[in-house]
Amino acid sequence: MHPRRVAIAIGGGIAAYKVCELISTLFQSGVEVRVILTRAAQEFITPLTVATLSRHPAYTDENFWQPVHHRPLHIELGEWAEVLVIAPLTANTLGKLAYGLADNLLTNTVLASKCPVLLAPAMNTEMWEQLAVQRNWQQLLLDPRYHSVGPGTGLLACDRTGAGRMAEPSEILVAIQSLLHSGGKRDLAGKRVLISAGGTREHLDPVRFIGNPSTGKMGLALAQAAVQRGAMVTLVHGVLPGADLTPLPPFPAREGGKAPLLQGEGLGVRSIPVVSADQMRQAMLENFPEADLIVMAAAVADVKPAFYSEEKLPKKSLPAALPLAPVADILAELGNCKQPHQILIGFAAQTGDIVTPALGKLEQKKLDAIVANPIDKPDSGFGSDRNTAIWIDRQGRQLEIPPCSKLEMAHHLFDFVLTLNSF
Ligand code: CTP
Repeated sequence: MHPRRVAIAIGGGIAAYKVCELISTLFQSGVEVRVILTRAAQEFITPLTVATLSRHPAYTDENFWQPVHHRPLHIELGEWAEVLVIAPLTANTLGKLAYGLADNLLTNTVLASKCPVLLAPAMNTEMWEQLAVQRNWQQLLLDPRYHSVGPGTGLLACDRTGAGRMAEPSEILVAIQSLLHSGGKRDLAGKRVLISAGGTREHLDPVRFIGNPSTGKMGLALAQAAVQRGAMVTLVHGVLPGADLTPLPPFPAREGGKAPLLQGEGLGVRSIPVVSADQMRQAMLENFPEADLIVMAAAVADVKPAFYSEEKLPKKSLPAALPLAPVADILAELGNCKQPHQILIGFAAQTGDIVTPALGKLEQKKLDAIVANPIDKPDSGFGSDRNTAIWIDRQGRQLEIPPCSKLEMAHHLFDFVLTLNSF
């Protein structure tokens, strides 16, 4: 396998320092990185910094007329890159790109390339909210070549709290990895994807609960991958340690069976936090009728304490044996009310033989496919950043997904969904 090739163009903003971390992480994960710095970017970080991190000389406008392999640098770089990232994207570069202008190495490289371009804007809130800047931003995103990540809202270097903060390097990394996988295709555009993630907690009192070790990483990766591929994603999730999900309003309802023209990416993931299986069931049932594709990645409880105390129970009042009550099987319920156009996918976290029980669940819960997921292997299952599985579907396919990151696994699963006859 050849290493993947990513070009990063750094604009003149304080967020430039965060891009150093991104370059370092990409290099450490085996990706070849070439870096362009605009003149203004060099006020914040030096070519030496990025050259050291990427193990390759950095490019600036000084190099514009220095050919590589006897070819102009911007052409060579533009053709070399599989993905071109602009981070931070300033108002000035945004304006130039929106108008197709090219007056430096960065803008010439963009125009001389065909690969997907990932934009990570960063600027002061006043600047970001200017009508002209917003017009340029909307204009640019009309071109399917451009993909966006952020900006987020938070404390800015100008001591103001508002919109304009560059996406975190970890978010940009996820977007790059997605673009490397999909080549920038939005093959889930217009699709509404409903995903459940994380574990549920069945409380006995406000402090104690029956839970499981799920961290929601697989469900979150599915949401990120689907959004990058153009889907409108609703994520119903249990408690997700460390995840920073901004609550967003729900998508507009379909009118007369027709979906309003919306593109998932940039709209972000609609997240619905829940705690218990009953709350997850309610949120899934509410959002199910609108969904085209439903992936139940959550680790849902099978039983809950038969009683709940509003007050914390003193130790001495705790029962020696806890009476339990069953919890509804959400996936089976969805399978029973599924419409022919809907695709329903479950997960089966198993130890030992993973295929036989998964085949049973595929049948019993009336699924289109199930992801048989070993949880007794290193590098797989609960809490791990990596996973391995066997995709089993109603078309009789059993496709093995070798160990990979959870984001890669999410993309493989959507690749399989796209090949289902009924999708
Ligand atoms: N599931 C669900 N509601 C439940 C339990 C499970 O929707 N109350 C879903 C899970 O999200 C998963 C699938 O059903 O997609 C299979 O879950 P799993 O825990 O592997 O199997 P169970 O059906 O609970 O059966 P068992 O525990 O006996 O293996």
